[in-house]
Amino acid sequence: MSSNNDKPMKIFTYPEPVLREKAKPVGNIDEAIQTLIDRMAATMYSAPGIGLAANQVGEPIQIIVFDVSPREKGRNLSVLINPEIIQAEGKVSQEESCLSVVDFSAEVTRPACVKVRGVDRHGKPVEIDAEGLLSVCLQHEIDHLSGVLFIDHISSLKRALYNKKLKKMRKKGLLQGE
Ligand code: NI
Repeated sequence: MSSNNDKPMKIFTYPEPVLREKAKPVGNIDEAIQTLIDRMAATMYSAPGIGLAANQVGEPIQIIVFDVSPREKGRNLSVLINPEIIQAEGKVSQEESCLSVVDFSAEVTRPACVKVRGVDRHGKPVEIDAEGLLSVCLQHEIDHLSGVLFIDHISSLKRALYNKKLKKMRKKGLLQGE
């Protein structure tokens, strides 16, 4: 891996429009896609986060990277291309946050277990039966590919409060990259 592939990318943050785009399916998994995957992984680990969707680095195409393994156990990167949820069951509420939604977390209710289908970075079909943290992570990242953020799942009142907070932070110049 060249050193350039280890370079973290800029993470786009709410309300930037690319986060609202519907990601296009990946056709040919070529060299450019492999490089993007490496750089997305580097970005996720350096943030640090447990998942990242391509929209978040300004590329609205259907790629997610994730690693929910405890960090003391080392890295265990997973990559899913063109992922889709083909089954969902139960209900669970969990605190979520997002690298693209600065300084905010909230409890989100989602299906407890999901079955996800996609292909890995070598084009090999993958099917994952997920529960717990992995299930939440996959749903959160796949949401990104549809232009959906976790704050879309909370009450409009809570969302309004967050928008107000963002406005204040922007006024005080507390938001990076602005
Ligand atoms: Ni996110």
